[in-house]
Amino acid sequence: MGKIIAGKTSEILPGNMIKVSIDGRDILVANIDGNYYATDDSCTHSGASLSEGELDGCTITCGWHAAQFDCKNGKLVKFPAKIRDLTSYNVTVESDSVFVEM
Ligand code: FES
Repeated sequence: MGKIIAGKTSEILPGNMIKVSIDGRDILVANIDGNYYATDDSCTHSGASLSEGELDGCTITCGWHAAQFDCKNGKLVKFPAKIRDLTSYNVTVESDSVFVEM
């Protein structure tokens, strides 16, 4: 699919995450200390929108049942059951625009 614009750097402030819809797919984009990361927004447990959960450092906590994922690579950090990791995507910044590579 290539590089898709996710937004402006000014729209994704450090310590925050947003949800963007790219070709019908919901993607979470997080800003950790000025570095940007992207994963699927849908929790692999029951489909909650992870961007509506909490971001602490690089750990995303799902708002529904508290599964935790690392936003840098989509890996499951903590949950009582084995659930899939999130798909993660490369992110690049050009000028003031954030691009997700899909
Ligand atoms: S839907 Fe995310 S932990 Fe259950």
